[in-house]
Amino acid sequence: MDVVEHNRNAWNDEALEDCRWCIPYGPNIIAEARTGQWAVYLTPNRPVPRDWFPNDLTGKKVLCLASGGGQQAPLLAAVGAEVTSFDNAEQQLERDRQVAEREGLTLETIRGDMADLSVLADETFDLIINVTSNVFAPDLHPIWRECYRVLKPGGSLMVGMVNPFYFLFDQEEGEETGEFVAKYPIPYSDIEHMPKDRLEKAIADNDVLEFSHTLDDQIGGQLEAGFLIAGFFEDDWDEESTLLNKFGCMFINTRAIKPEW
Ligand SMILES: C[S@@+](CC[C@H](N)C(=O)[O-])C[C@H]1O[C@@H](n2cnc3c(N)ncnc32)[C@H](O)[C@@H]1O
Repeated sequence: MDVVEHNRNAWNDEALEDCRWCIPYGPNIIAEARTGQWAVYLTPNRPVPRDWFPNDLTGKKVLCLASGGGQQAPLLAAVGAEVTSFDNAEQQLERDRQVAEREGLTLETIRGDMADLSVLADETFDLIINVTSNVFAPDLHPIWRECYRVLKPGGSLMVGMVNPFYFLFDQEEGEETGEFVAKYPIPYSDIEHMPKDRLEKAIADNDVLEFSHTLDDQIGGQLEAGFLIAGFFEDDWDEESTLLNKFGCMFINTRAIKPEW
């Protein structure tokens, strides 16, 4: 199956159903951003440290990659950046456009698969932010290569990702029993490892399909593409989202730099 196309349709549905990741920022958050009070979240709870960003974002070219939904892209435009939002789901981009229109902000939106940024020229961006989304992509290596290509030398890539350990466990069973027993190998993929009846139902229900990846693909892959890792922190979730939360941090954030040499 074409999992990228499946996930595109699934994310369009998620947006139409106003899922948690698809609720646009309201006027207050944008108004505060205009006065210099802002924070970018790539994972649920801990914001990206402010010193991961340049002091002044005015005129900086920022690519919000697979980060549609009317949040980070219009926020960074309100701070003064020249923002391009690149996402595979039309409905997520529509939310970016709605906020931009409501707030009188300029924002470019492009629909496409984050593994193929060929519509974007080499060395275009000062900064790329990638809100937790590579869990929906089957292969990370083309994404890291494309990010490296479209960044200017000295530019940076900030990525939120799911810690692969989340996928060791059957979440449905864990939520039912309160016990998490390691069951799946890493790298895990819904397509390969989910029980067949559940996978068929997930496909029929147009649910998003996920891939754990490995830390080697996540962090090693960025290094292999030529980046230097310059920042790292973990983030947790909440018990409402997964009881696994009490056992450890589910999310990782990295800051990678494209060296100037
Ligand atoms: C968890 S949402 C993150 C965005 C949101 N702004 C937030 O704050 O949570 C994941 C996003 O990744 C996008 N996405 C999934 N697969 C993609 C792909 N292959 N290429 C580009 N975007 C993709 C989805 O459409 C969705 O907007």
